[in-house]
Amino acid sequence: MASKQLMTKMNEGLADELQVSIQYMWQHVMWKGVKGFAIKDELKKIAVEEMKHAEAIAERLTYLGGMPTTKPEPIFVGKTLKDMMTTDKKDEEGAIKLYKQVIEMAEKEGDVVSKKLFEGILADEEEHHDLFSSLLEEI
Ligand SMILES: [Fe+2]
Ligand SMILES: [Fe+2]
Repeated sequence: MASKQLMTKMNEGLADELQVSIQYMWQHVMWKGVKGFAIKDELKKIAVEEMKHAEAIAERLTYLGGMPTTKPEPIFVGKTLKDMMTTDKKDEEGAIKLYKQVIEMAEKEGDVVSKKLFEGILADEEEHHDLFSSLLEEI
Protein backbone atom coordinates (compact mmCIF):
# COMPACT_ATOMS: atom_id res chain seq x y z
CA MET A 1 0.00 0.00 0.00
CA ALA A 2 1.27 3.50 0.74
CA SER A 3 4.90 4.07 1.73
CA LYS A 4 5.90 5.17 5.22
CA GLN A 5 7.14 8.43 3.73
CA LEU A 6 3.77 9.18 2.16
CA MET A 7 1.90 8.35 5.37
CA THR A 8 4.26 10.63 7.35
CA LYS A 9 3.46 13.48 4.94
CA MET A 10 -0.25 12.77 5.29
CA ASN A 11 0.12 12.89 9.07
CA GLU A 12 1.88 16.26 8.79
CA GLY A 13 -1.15 17.46 6.86
CA LEU A 14 -3.47 16.06 9.52
CA ALA A 15 -1.58 17.94 12.27
CA ASP A 16 -1.98 21.15 10.23
CA GLU A 17 -5.70 20.51 9.70
CA LEU A 18 -6.24 19.99 13.44
CA GLN A 19 -4.34 23.21 14.13
CA VAL A 20 -6.24 25.43 11.70
CA SER A 21 -9.64 24.00 12.53
CA ILE A 22 -9.14 25.16 16.14
CA GLN A 23 -7.33 28.34 15.10
CA TYR A 24 -10.07 29.53 12.74
CA MET A 25 -12.87 28.53 15.11
CA TRP A 26 -11.24 30.55 17.92
CA GLN A 27 -10.68 33.50 15.59
CA HIS A 28 -14.39 33.18 14.79
CA VAL A 29 -15.24 33.21 18.50
CA MET A 30 -12.97 36.15 19.37
CA TRP A 31 -14.05 38.52 16.60
CA LYS A 32 -14.09 42.27 17.34
CA GLY A 33 -15.22 45.38 15.50
CA VAL A 34 -16.86 45.93 12.14
CA LYS A 35 -14.23 44.08 10.13
CA GLY A 36 -14.29 41.18 12.55
CA PHE A 37 -18.05 41.03 12.24
CA ALA A 38 -17.78 40.86 8.48
CA ILE A 39 -15.63 37.71 8.48
CA LYS A 40 -16.70 35.84 11.62
CA ASP A 41 -19.17 33.56 9.82
CA GLU A 42 -16.71 32.79 7.05
CA LEU A 43 -14.07 31.79 9.63
CA LYS A 44 -16.50 29.35 11.22
CA LYS A 45 -17.37 27.84 7.85
CA ILE A 46 -13.71 27.35 7.01
CA ALA A 47 -12.95 25.92 10.47
CA VAL A 48 -15.61 23.24 9.85
CA GLU A 49 -14.15 22.49 6.41
CA GLU A 50 -10.71 22.02 7.97
CA MET A 51 -12.16 19.58 10.51
CA LYS A 52 -13.71 17.63 7.64
CA HIS A 53 -10.31 17.54 5.95
CA ALA A 54 -8.83 16.21 9.20
CA GLU A 55 -11.47 13.48 9.34
CA ALA A 56 -10.94 12.45 5.72
CA ILE A 57 -7.15 12.29 6.10
CA ALA A 58 -7.43 10.34 9.38
CA GLU A 59 -9.78 7.85 7.73
CA ARG A 60 -7.47 7.40 4.77
CA LEU A 61 -4.44 6.91 7.05
CA THR A 62 -6.31 4.32 9.08
CA TYR A 63 -7.31 2.45 5.94
CA LEU A 64 -3.68 2.44 4.79
CA GLY A 65 -2.59 0.93 8.12
CA GLY A 66 -1.16 4.15 9.57
CA MET A 67 -1.82 5.81 12.91
CA PRO A 68 -3.50 9.21 12.57
CA THR A 69 -1.98 11.82 14.85
CA THR A 70 -4.08 13.59 17.50
CA LYS A 71 -1.54 16.41 17.95
CA PRO A 72 -2.17 19.74 16.24
CA GLU A 73 0.67 21.98 15.15
CA PRO A 74 0.97 25.07 17.43
CA ILE A 75 -2.18 27.18 17.29
CA PHE A 76 -1.98 30.93 16.70
CA VAL A 77 -5.16 32.91 17.32
CA GLY A 78 -3.74 36.47 17.18
CA LYS A 79 -5.04 39.72 18.64
CA THR A 80 -5.63 41.86 15.58
CA LEU A 81 -7.39 40.95 12.38
CA LYS A 82 -4.23 41.73 10.46
CA ASP A 83 -2.20 39.29 12.57
CA MET A 84 -4.88 36.66 12.10
CA MET A 85 -5.15 37.02 8.34
CA THR A 86 -1.37 37.18 7.88
CA THR A 87 -0.90 33.93 9.79
CA ASP A 88 -3.88 32.22 8.17
CA LYS A 89 -2.66 33.10 4.70
CA LYS A 90 0.77 31.67 5.53
CA ASP A 91 -0.78 28.49 6.94
CA GLU A 92 -2.80 28.00 3.75
CA GLU A 93 0.37 28.47 1.70
CA GLY A 94 2.04 25.78 3.79
CA ALA A 95 -0.89 23.42 3.24
CA ILE A 96 -0.90 24.05 -0.52
CA LYS A 97 2.82 23.28 -0.75
CA LEU A 98 2.50 20.14 1.39
CA TYR A 99 -0.51 18.76 -0.47
CA LYS A 100 1.15 19.24 -3.85
CA GLN A 101 3.95 17.03 -2.51
CA VAL A 102 1.45 14.46 -1.21
CA ILE A 103 -0.34 14.37 -4.59
CA GLU A 104 2.95 13.88 -6.42
CA MET A 105 4.03 11.08 -4.08
CA ALA A 106 0.64 9.36 -4.25
CA GLU A 107 0.75 9.49 -8.03
CA LYS A 108 4.22 7.93 -8.11
CA GLU A 109 3.04 5.13 -5.81
CA GLY A 110 -0.10 4.50 -7.84
CA ASP A 111 -2.28 5.45 -4.87
CA VAL A 112 -5.13 6.85 -6.95
CA VAL A 113 -7.58 7.34 -4.09
CA SER A 114 -5.17 9.33 -1.89
CA LYS A 115 -4.24 11.44 -4.91
CA LYS A 116 -7.89 12.20 -5.59
CA LEU A 117 -8.59 12.95 -1.93
CA PHE A 118 -5.75 15.44 -1.68
CA GLU A 119 -6.64 17.08 -4.99
CA GLY A 120 -10.05 17.87 -3.54
CA ILE A 121 -8.55 19.19 -0.31
CA LEU A 122 -6.00 21.24 -2.26
CA ALA A 123 -8.81 22.96 -4.17
CA ASP A 124 -10.41 23.96 -0.85
CA GLU A 125 -7.09 25.29 0.51
CA GLU A 126 -6.63 27.43 -2.59
CA GLU A 127 -10.07 28.93 -1.98
CA HIS A 128 -9.16 29.65 1.65
CA HIS A 129 -5.88 31.19 0.55
CA ASP A 130 -7.69 33.37 -1.97
CA LEU A 131 -10.11 34.61 0.68
CA PHE A 132 -7.43 35.39 3.29
CA SER A 133 -5.31 37.15 0.65
CA SER A 134 -8.26 39.31 -0.44
CA LEU A 135 -9.19 40.15 3.15
CA LEU A 136 -5.60 41.11 3.95
CA GLU A 137 -5.67 43.72 1.19
CA GLU A 138 -8.60 45.44 2.89
CA ILE A 139 -7.21 45.57 6.43
FE1 LIG B 1 -7.67 21.91 5.20
FE1 LIG C 1 -7.54 25.71 4.54
